[in-house]
Amino acid sequence: MPAPESSGEGAWLAPWWKGLGRRYGHVFHSMCSYMGSFPPGLPRYLIEQLTEPGDVVLDPFSGRGTAPLEACLSGRHGIGIDLNPLASMLSSVKLDPPTLEETLARLAELEASYVPEPVGDRAPPEIRMLFEETTTLPQILHMKASLDPAHRTDRFLLASLAGILHGNHTRDVVSSRCLSVSMPNTFSMSPGYLARYIAEKSLVRPPFDAFEKLRLRMHFEFAEGVPALRGRAIRGDARALSTLVAPGSAKLIVTSPPYLNVVRYGKFNWIRLWLLGESVSDVDRSLRVEATDRRLALSDRMRFKGYCGFLKTVLTECARVLRDDGVCAVTIGDVRNKEHGERTLALEAWDSMKDEVPLVLGAAVADDVNQLGKVSKIWGLAHRGEATKVDRVMLFHKPGRSLPRPRWSDPAALIEAIAASPNAPLVRSGKARPGVVKTRATAAARKKTGT
Ligand SMILES: C[S@@+](CC[C@H](N)C(=O)[O-])C[C@H]1O[C@@H](n2cnc3c(N)ncnc32)[C@H](O)[C@@H]1O
Repeated sequence: MPAPESSGEGAWLAPWWKGLGRRYGHVFHSMCSYMGSFPPGLPRYLIEQLTEPGDVVLDPFSGRGTAPLEACLSGRHGIGIDLNPLASMLSSVKLDPPTLEETLARLAELEASYVPEPVGDRAPPEIRMLFEETTTLPQILHMKASLDPAHRTDRFLLASLAGILHGNHTRDVVSSRCLSVSMPNTFSMSPGYLARYIAEKSLVRPPFDAFEKLRLRMHFEFAEGVPALRGRAIRGDARALSTLVAPGSAKLIVTSPPYLNVVRYGKFNWIRLWLLGESVSDVDRSLRVEATDRRLALSDRMRFKGYCGFLKTVLTECARVLRDDGVCAVTIGDVRNKEHGERTLALEAWDSMKDEVPLVLGAAVADDVNQLGKVSKIWGLAHRGEATKVDRVMLFHKPGRSLPRPRWSDPAALIEAIAASPNAPLVRSGKARPGVVKTRATAAARKKTGT
C-alpha cells in the first residue's frame, strides 16, 4: 500500500481537502445537521481526481447527502442511498431541489390556509415543552399536517423546517435561526434530559413566527444557486445495493459507513423524526444488522465481528455496482475502547475479509480530524463514544486493475480551483493538464495540508 508522500506519484494521496477550510461547501450542506457527515471537501477532492464530468458517483450511506451533492455541483450524477428516512429526505431535496419561487409560493399558500388553533393533544408533552404554544407550535403543526414529502417543493420545505426546528438562540434571541427553546441544533437530547435542562436553566419558549423563519431560510438556501446536474436519492439498504443501482455503473463510490458504537440515528433525531411522522424505534430497528448479534443489533452498536460481516456484505455489493475502472473510497474512523485501546478499525476489518471481497485495497489515507469538528465533542468526554481523531480513507479498485492516475497532477492547484469555483463544474482551459500554476493560494493550501 503506498504511503502518502509529499511529492512524486503518490503525492495526491493525502488529505488535501483540508486546504479548503471549514467553511467550504454549498449552503445546502448546512440545511440540517446530521451526525457523522463528511467535510464536503473530502468527496469533492476525490470526485475531481477520480471521475470525469457525467460519471456516476454513489454514496450507499449518504446521510444528509454530502457526497452526491458535491457530485451534482461538479457536473457528475450523484446518487445517495440511505435507510434512515431523515437522511434520505435530506439527500433527496439537495439532489432534486425546486426553485426559490416555488418554495415561496407554497409557503404563502400554507400561511393563507393557516387558522390558529390550540395545540391540545395534537402534540405530545415532550414536543410541547420545546415550542411556544400560541404561535410557533400551531404553525409547525399546520405545516407538518399540510406538507407532502412525496412532492418536491413540500419536501424541500419540510427538510428546511427540520433544519431550523431546534437550535441555540442568538444573543438577541429574535434573530435566532431556530424555533425551539435554546438547545443544540446538531442532535436531540433525550426528552428526560431536556426537561431537566429546561427547568434548571429556566429556558423560555419565544413566540417565533415559523412561516417567517422558514421564508428567511429559503432566501438563504437559494443564495448560491442550485447544482448543475440533478441526482437521485433512494431510501434503501446498502446491503442490497445492486438491487437499487445498476451493476457496473458507478465510477466512484465515496462513503462512510455507520461507525462502531457511536451514533443511534433514530434516538438522536427524535424531534426531527416527530416532524416527519416517523417512529424513532422503527428507524433504529431498521438500521440494525440481523443475524449476527441480536443484543447489539444497531448498525452503530455492533461488535467487531458483526461490523465486519456488515462491511463485507456492503463492500461485496459495492464491487457489483462499481465500473471495472472505478474506485470505491470508504472512510472509517479509528476507535478506542478500554479493552483494546486505539484500533484502526478500517484496516483491521479489511484484514479479516480481504480474501472474500472482490476488491483490492490500493491505498489508505489517514485524515487527522480536528476533534472540535466532531459531533461527539459536544456530548462531553463521558459520552464521546469510541470515535478517535483519525479517520482512514481506504481506496479500493477491482482485481487486475490499479488505482487510476489522478486527473490533477498538482493537488494544491486543484484545491485552489475548487475554492475559486465551489458550486459549479471546474472549467479546464486549453490542452494543458490542470494544476500546474503555482500561486500564493497554492502555497497556502500546501501549508494547511502539511504537504
Ligand atoms: C456516518 S453516516 C454517513 C454520513 C454521510 N457521509 C454524510 O455526509 O452525511 C452513516 C449513515 O449510514 C446510514 N445507514 C446505517 N445502516 C444503513 C444501511 N443498512 N443501509 C443504508 N444506510 C444505512 C445511517 O442512517 C447514516 O445516515
